[in-house]
Amino acid sequence: MDYRYKSLDLYMVPLRSDNYSYIIHDRETKKTLVIDPSENEALVTFIKDKGFSLDLIIDTHHHDDHTHGNISLQDMFKSEIIASRYDQDKNRIPGQVGRTLKDGDRFEFSGYHFRAISTAGHTLGHVCLLLEEANWLFSGDTLFGLGCGRLFEGTPEIMWESLQKLRALPDDSLVFCGHEYTLSNARFARHVASNLPGLKGYLDSLEKRFKEEGRTVPSRLSDEKAFNPFLLADHPFFKSLGDDPAAVFGNLRKQKDNFK
Ligand SMILES: [Fe+2]
Repeated sequence: MDYRYKSLDLYMVPLRSDNYSYIIHDRETKKTLVIDPSENEALVTFIKDKGFSLDLIIDTHHHDDHTHGNISLQDMFKSEIIASRYDQDKNRIPGQVGRTLKDGDRFEFSGYHFRAISTAGHTLGHVCLLLEEANWLFSGDTLFGLGCGRLFEGTPEIMWESLQKLRALPDDSLVFCGHEYTLSNARFARHVASNLPGLKGYLDSLEKRFKEEGRTVPSRLSDEKAFNPFLLADHPFFKSLGDDPAAVFGNLRKQKDNFK
């Protein structure tokens, strides 16, 4: 168990080279869900080793490294799949989808509540999930530690709007994102924002944490609000890049795409 909130235990399962799948288990009701099952066999083994079943599969978006386990896990455990309505309408979620999500939809898990936040940009169907009682934010490939997802389907305007929705969430939210990309993103942050007050100390703390724990996820949303360049497109620090925050965001995203 990596994190605990009341009767909920959260397990971070590192898969592939840098993906995270998240398993949440309620110790009282014995209900279990997975968010973004990257693989099948490794997750089946993990779930069986713990003695769990799997009631629910939640996908933040349709990309294979977030949905690859859908079909095998559903076959094995008869789990319900919840995914974004946009992705289901596009018929691009593997398995039988039981419920779909649009912006603001809430659903219950074991007496706790998830809220879907539509965050188009990386893909047009992307949703993030906030577990409201715990302020656990599952941000998929929208918001990473010090970074954000590439714009495969959305425009800078759309993504900037999505990121502002996440920025409006409580400071103490924990950001459980889809990939361990933070240290690579930190190099870019150092490149574009080396003079940002406090950045250096934050980057040092991340490097120390990675050495000690082998990971930097989750981060605190307050730290992302302060140091993630992609959340700072309307900050005076970047005013030299222009007056329109969406355009500044687009500029930063493009710089990052070409950053070696
Ligand atoms: Fe993705």
